[in-house]
Amino acid sequence: MDLFEHEARELFSSHGVPVPRGRVATSPEEARAAAVVIGGTVVVKAQVKTGGRGKAGGVKLAATPDDAEQVADDILGMDIKGHTVHKVLVTEASEIAEEYYVSYLLDRAERTFLAMASVAGGMEIEEVAATRPEALAKVPVDALTGVDRAKAVEIVAAAQFPAEVADDIADALVRLWEVFVGEDTTLVEVNPLARTKNGRVIALDGKVTLDANAEFRHADHAAFADPNAGDPLEREAAEQGLNYVKLDGDIGVIGNGAGLVMSTLDVVAAAAAEMGARGPANFLDIGGGASAGIMSAGLGVILGDPDVRSVFVNVFGGITACDAVADGIVQALGILGDRATKPLVVRLDGNNVAEGRRILAEAGHPLVTVVETMDDAAREAAKLATVTASAEA
Ligand SMILES: Nc1ncnc2c1ncn2[C@@H]1O[C@H](COP(=O)(O)OP(=O)(O)OP(=O)(O)O)[C@@H](O)[C@H]1O
Ligand SMILES: [Mg+2]
Repeated sequence: MDLFEHEARELFSSHGVPVPRGRVATSPEEARAAAVVIGGTVVVKAQVKTGGRGKAGGVKLAATPDDAEQVADDILGMDIKGHTVHKVLVTEASEIAEEYYVSYLLDRAERTFLAMASVAGGMEIEEVAATRPEALAKVPVDALTGVDRAKAVEIVAAAQFPAEVADDIADALVRLWEVFVGEDTTLVEVNPLARTKNGRVIALDGKVTLDANAEFRHADHAAFADPNAGDPLEREAAEQGLNYVKLDGDIGVIGNGAGLVMSTLDVVAAAAAEMGARGPANFLDIGGGASAGIMSAGLGVILGDPDVRSVFVNVFGGITACDAVADGIVQALGILGDRATKPLVVRLDGNNVAEGRRILAEAGHPLVTVVETMDDAAREAAKLATVTASAEA
C-alpha cells in the first residue's frame, strides 16, 4: 500500500529522520489555523498518491495565514492525474540551498535491495535517470547487513554528496533504512532531501510503500488505510476477503484457484473476441472452499458490477467436491434472490462431478446453464453477454 506524504513523514519522524513541522488540513479554515500555529511562510501541499504534484499546481507557498487559506481553497478538490485532493499538508517553508534524492527499494530483477542517491534531486528524478544515468548512484544493499554507518558512507561517496552535508546525509540514510526495514516497506523515497541555507539536511517530501504481506506485524499501520482508495467493487470484495480484480469487459468470471481463473480469463477473452462480446469483467478466485457464503459473496460482487452481462462460474472440484460447490451455487442464488439478474454459465469438473451436475439440474434455476467443457462454457457465456447487450439496447 502506498502512503500519503503526511503518513510517510510520520514514519520518518518516528525513526528520527528530520522533517519540517507540519499539519494536515481538510478545509481552507484548517489550513489557515495550521499556518497560524506553524508561523511564517508555509508550503501547502496536495495529499494524493501520485507523483508530479508540484508541476500540477498542487504545491504552493503561502506567506500569511490568509494566503494559506486561499491556496488551500485552490488545491482542495483539485484533480491531479485522476486523484481528487481531499486534504493538504501545511508545512513550514524551508529555505532550500540544494535538493537531493535518496531512495531504498526492492530490486526484484537483481534480487537485492537497492539504494539510489543523487545530488540532482527535486522534481524530475526519472528524467535524471534517463538523460544522465551517471548522476544517479545505485548501490546494492545486502539484506543481512543492511545500511550501517559504513554502508551509508559508501552511498554518500557513490553519489558524490558535498563534504559539508556528508555526515548528515549518512545519518539520514541509516535512519531511512530503519524505516525501510522496521516498517516493512518495499519503497522509501525522499525527493527532495534538502540542504537548507542554514545547513540542515531535511526530508521535504516522502514516498513509502508498505509491504501488505507484513501487515500482521504492524497493527499501527491500520490507521493508514484509505477509505477512498481503489475501485469500490474491489473494496467491497476485499472487505469480504475475496481475491477480486475489476477488469473492463462484460463477462463476470468466478473460479476456484488463481491458476484456473487466470486460464479462464484467456479462454473467455478468446470466446468474447469470437462472439463479439467485450471480454472478462473481472478476476475472482474464491479459493478452495466454495461454500454458499463465499459463492454468494462472490456472485454478489460480480452482479453489483453494471458492466457484467453474463457470468461464467468455472470450478474444478478437488478437496471441495463438485456437489458441495453445486450446493453452494444453488444456495447462493437463493440468498441473492432478486439481485441475481444475469445469466450464469456453470462448468463443473473433477471430484464428484456427476452429483454436482445432478444437483444443478434438479434445482433447475432459470438463470443457470450447465456446460461440460471450459471452451464451450466460455463461448456460451460470451453468447449470452451479447444477447443481454442487445436486450439492454
Ligand atoms: N517545506 C518546503 N519548503 C520549501 N520548499 C518546499 C517544501 N516542500 C516542497 N518544496 C518545494 O516544492 C517542490 C515540490 O515538492 P514535493 O517534492 O513535495 O512535490 P512533488 O515532487 O511535486 O510531488 P511528487 O513527489 O508527488 O512528484 C520541492 O522540490 C521543493 O522545491
Ligand atoms: Mg517530490
